[in-house]
Amino acid sequence: MAQARNPRPDELPAWRALREHQARLAPMHMRALFAADADRFRRFSIAACDLFLDYSKNRIDADTLDLLVALAREVRLEEWRERLFSGEVVNVSEQRAALHVALRHPGGEAFPRPDDDVMPAVEGARRRMGEIAGALRNGTRRGHSGKAIESVVHIGIGGSHLGPQMAVEAMAPPRGRSPLLRFVSSVDAQGLRAALEGLDAERTLFLVASKTFTTGETMANAESAREWLLGQTGFPEAAVAAHFVAITADAGKARRFGVAADAILPIWEWVGGRFSICSAVGLPAAVAAGMDAFEAFLAGARAMDRHFREAPLDENMPVVLGLLGVWYRNFFAAPTRAVLPYDYRLRSLPAYLQQLEMESTGKRVGRDGHTLGFDTCPVVWGGPGNDAQHSFFQMLHQGTALVPCDILAPAAGEPAAPGHDDALLGNALAQGEALMRGRDEAETRAQLEAEGLSGAALEARLPHCVFPGNQPSNTLLYRHLTPRHLGALVALFEHRLFVESVCWGVNAFDQWGVELGKALARTLTAELAGGPAAPHDASTEGLLETARRLRAKP
Ligand code: F6P
Repeated sequence: MAQARNPRPDELPAWRALREHQARLAPMHMRALFAADADRFRRFSIAACDLFLDYSKNRIDADTLDLLVALAREVRLEEWRERLFSGEVVNVSEQRAALHVALRHPGGEAFPRPDDDVMPAVEGARRRMGEIAGALRNGTRRGHSGKAIESVVHIGIGGSHLGPQMAVEAMAPPRGRSPLLRFVSSVDAQGLRAALEGLDAERTLFLVASKTFTTGETMANAESAREWLLGQTGFPEAAVAAHFVAITADAGKARRFGVAADAILPIWEWVGGRFSICSAVGLPAAVAAGMDAFEAFLAGARAMDRHFREAPLDENMPVVLGLLGVWYRNFFAAPTRAVLPYDYRLRSLPAYLQQLEMESTGKRVGRDGHTLGFDTCPVVWGGPGNDAQHSFFQMLHQGTALVPCDILAPAAGEPAAPGHDDALLGNALAQGEALMRGRDEAETRAQLEAEGLSGAALEARLPHCVFPGNQPSNTLLYRHLTPRHLGALVALFEHRLFVESVCWGVNAFDQWGVELGKALARTLTAELAGGPAAPHDASTEGLLETARRLRAKP
């Protein structure tokens, strides 16, 4: 039964005041806001943890920020933040703490409390991770036949895949000394086949990352990988122990699969999969970039944790970003937010953030079980910014939807390629400028005249070439992406969604919404494999029948 209803966020005085404020601010163009306040860039920017956030290109003024901070106080954000950091139950539907912050806490200090200290376990896992990564990098890790391991295939899905893949891409130096590393996630066998292509089984190690060690896709891929290993080599079953490492909260299941006890790295119930990148789930990054780099990654995340915990709300990067998220989602009804990294190393950031945010705040009931009467998580989407300019940016510049954008860019790009970094940063900054300023009718007319157009031809072209602008963006700048920056970014985004979840009153740490699809997939998989027919809707029945017909074709 749902509990007594808490006061809804949209019934709070600050929420109501924000609604009225939005009505006054909405007709204003950001050009006018910039013209009215010479101090706007300084006022609306924050430097923390070697990251620089410019949020001046948002549809806000000084009152907006004050009202948003008032909302944060009314939803008791500081209290919830303390609950998170002190290990209280914040995942109410599963009655668990969410202790991902422990994963980057310094060694030798108790966390969250001396009487309930998870750090010995965390440090033990870190040590073991360093040993495994070190042995793989220096060639001393050997397979069953004594040959050195040269290739590592990581098997996992969701939080056990997106974080490690992004971290490997972001942290691995271009010529890092590490084994060949490949990833397999989907149950689509083509992915596994491609990952195994050309590998020498005797020199291949599989990392199976699964908190539960029951996820269908991961277990199917792990089983097939085991068959491949034994089939290719003729090794006995016992050889599995030398070729598999597991990262899981269920050591018993990993042991039954054949993983050696000392090759099982723990994760814990108190870490959500999507928040697990700072745990042993990040092993591929330590293999690719080395444990020192992984420690630097943890240090960056730790610095952002401290900033989030200590900085005043209006100078606090995750808080400000979270509040802006609420501002656009609830007061401008913005259905989506775009993530636009101008950094090859962050090419998988949008996919990572999709899970991190949408699995966390894509909720329709509050912590108390009552249906919310307002919107929560926007659709998070995006892609590498420079490429996107030549595809979906058209819609950002001239479409009808308000799409707040996050632009991320290094101030100094690839040192070995002079000129490219100026072009990369130039493009990144230009998009923020164009999205904000737009180009009004008078400017467009002048531009078309300069291009030689006049008369009816000019008038016909004119409306197509006007840019309304007023499209908000945040710009995150850093010098050159290092593991430390990546850690700070990961923690920044984790805490941003936490701030949003507190404003919406939802539990960010459960994900019941994925269960129905999993259950139906099990039924349909069994049916396709010849099991008993279950009742379905007419569409699903029709698709099953059509698929069977297609399968029967030569
Ligand atoms: O089905 C969703 C989910 O549970 C995610 O939350 C999680 O990251 C992913 O599946 C993988 O889970 P596991 O690590 O247990 O295999």
